[in-house]
Amino acid sequence: MKKSLLFLITIFSSIVAFAQTSKDVKKHLFIANLMTKMTLEEKLGQLNLPASSDFVTGAVSSSNIAEKVKEGKVGGVFNIRSVTKIKELQEFAVKNTRLHIPLFFGMDIIHGYKTTFPIPLGMSATWDMQLIERTARIAASEASADGIQWTFSPMVDLTRDPRWGRVAEGNGEDPFLSSAIAKAMVHGYQGDDLGAPNTILSCVKHYALYGAAEGGRDYNTTDMSRVRMYNEYFPPYKAAVDAGVASVMVSFNEIDGIPASGNKWLVNDVLRNQWKFNGFVVSDYTGIPEMVNHGMGDFQAVNALSLNAGVDMDMVGEGFLTTLKKSLSEGKVTLAQINKACERVLISKYDLGLFDDPYRYCNEQRSATEVFTPANRAEARKIAAQSFVLLKNKNVLPIATGKTIALVGPLADDIVNMTGTWSVGADNSKSVSLLKGLRDAVGTNGKVLYAKGSNLEEDAELQNRQTLLGKDMIRDSRSTDELIKEALAISANADVIVAAIGEGAESSGESASKSNIGIPEAQQRLLKALVATGKPVALVLFNGRPLTLTWESENVPAILDVWFAGSEAGDAIADVLIGKVNPSGKITMSFPQNVGQIPIYYNHKNTGRPLTGKWFAKFQSNYIDVVNEPLYPFGYGLSYTKFEYGDMQLSSKALKGNQKLTVTVHVKNTGAVAGKEIVQLYIRDVVGSITRPIQELKGFNKIELAAGESKNVRFEITPELLKFYNSNLKYDWEAGDFEIMVGPNSKEVKSVKVNWSK
Ligand code: BGC
Repeated sequence: MKKSLLFLITIFSSIVAFAQTSKDVKKHLFIANLMTKMTLEEKLGQLNLPASSDFVTGAVSSSNIAEKVKEGKVGGVFNIRSVTKIKELQEFAVKNTRLHIPLFFGMDIIHGYKTTFPIPLGMSATWDMQLIERTARIAASEASADGIQWTFSPMVDLTRDPRWGRVAEGNGEDPFLSSAIAKAMVHGYQGDDLGAPNTILSCVKHYALYGAAEGGRDYNTTDMSRVRMYNEYFPPYKAAVDAGVASVMVSFNEIDGIPASGNKWLVNDVLRNQWKFNGFVVSDYTGIPEMVNHGMGDFQAVNALSLNAGVDMDMVGEGFLTTLKKSLSEGKVTLAQINKACERVLISKYDLGLFDDPYRYCNEQRSATEVFTPANRAEARKIAAQSFVLLKNKNVLPIATGKTIALVGPLADDIVNMTGTWSVGADNSKSVSLLKGLRDAVGTNGKVLYAKGSNLEEDAELQNRQTLLGKDMIRDSRSTDELIKEALAISANADVIVAAIGEGAESSGESASKSNIGIPEAQQRLLKALVATGKPVALVLFNGRPLTLTWESENVPAILDVWFAGSEAGDAIADVLIGKVNPSGKITMSFPQNVGQIPIYYNHKNTGRPLTGKWFAKFQSNYIDVVNEPLYPFGYGLSYTKFEYGDMQLSSKALKGNQKLTVTVHVKNTGAVAGKEIVQLYIRDVVGSITRPIQELKGFNKIELAAGESKNVRFEITPELLKFYNSNLKYDWEAGDFEIMVGPNSKEVKSVKVNWSK
């Protein structure tokens, strides 16, 4: 019986493998046949990716797209926000070009399409891979109904510098967590079948090291050792590749002195040869011509450099289109390289099913019924609440029923900023402000008073720089003093004050670096005045990056970090404020005490002179004027309930070879309400052939416990988790002692030492 079953399974898998191979053969024959008919110009056209004028993120925008499409000079277009327009352009391309090759359409769908979810940094705080995958799935299904087949997401640039505005778009400072997120996102977008009409191509970005820009200034130089690249910055990109991501976007920055857009080692050697990536590589927005400014040569030279490096598509630069023919005739690039790039682009179109049906993704009926649906919005509301992080709570939250609440602050009655940075497709038409959300949630069981309290910034120019790209904020012409006076007047009649303050949506994101990452001064003055009333104050913090909150952490009784939570933010925040949802998020980037501590990250090295006792110690590694610890460490976040951790139980303390170590910890909800807890496992490799971090996240488990309930949380550790790249870039583990740590965040851990021999 067993044997025959095995036989059937073998036959079945052979049939599947054969079908797959014959599908692949068919595809390659189709593309090869098509390419024999293509002229050089038409091949170069496939490598050209202009931007629609709907959304422009650089100094240059593409022009005369239709004309170029007709001449076969366009491979795809991105950021068109309308299924009708996309369908029209597709029809135009298919009907008017010589070979009727369909275009593909991309967009920056970073955290949702019309239904938007929290910014990625907020989503990462859920530590919930199913939820994260779900957001990408919904985004893909909505976008594909609107004609879009390719998203420039996930962004997985590891970062340790909150001055860099783009931390909002990523998953924080940890390679292990970010790798898990990369995998979940790629799978969410691409599903198991790219040809299905509701899945889209994913594009992992920005390869590589973009998050390590010096000084946190966007587009700036990066420079680091290869050991650091491989162990810390590369893993999330590699995880996306291992998960089958269809495309990779190279970054703006240089690596080892060569910009990523022209870096052969990075693209050809690492990505293609070492990681076996076989999709296509696209440049970032004018990233190729920007190499002229980097000092890599003239326009023609940098385009040849890029193709030679292994980049297939040129976003907005138009240099592949206009210079590669000349470079070919001069022997600076080869026809084989052009053919390969063209083939990769065409294969993606084939995989999407565009050669079968160019309009597969332009289904007006799906667009009308499957986008921004009540069901998707309801999910988005639930998901948003999961991203909030309770940083402090001295008996203020949740707000009991029957209270009069004074809601104050420039973000309290705002809608457009709630979706955060990079919400190109967002639909705000049904979103509510926190004011409306809170009034609806409280209903007749209380009262919500409102005053603006201050503008985002005292300085109008400073405010303007943070309210671009449609994220406007109407300025109140009254002075900050007058606004505060009004806020205090309404607060006098309230039982509790909720201060909705922080950053605007475009205070973070691309080209939004800051040297001062505190709450803007006008809002700080407001907050201080509110706290001085002596009434309970809950700070509802809007932010796209970790902020310096030293004063706030000492003086404000409650702080709830709500990031920018998407189209349902107003209701989701209200749900948490009134206790309908218990917050459970944990931060994925350290919150520094001050800017001087940056770069700051939990998984740092020990140094030869670590601070061993109390701060300050002469001739040990510390600062005279600030402690080494961040204000809030990686993995930190509170709940409306309390969790108690028991001691760790280990299956063994002496392991050998490929044995498995099981670690169990008993976690109990000792509070009065149900809640979710993210139990974290860290490991320290005590001695290595290269120095190793003082701890590294190696597992996490999000559990839900009813009041009084407890659970045993189990982690399994195999030598695979102990591997790292040594100084020869060999990936392996080394025998010796390991500290196993478990706890509610990276700092409050219990630790047990084990020995693992080979
Ligand atoms: C950004 C990318 C984005 C691209 C297209 C660039 O400025 O760096 O992240 O995908 O624009 O909009």
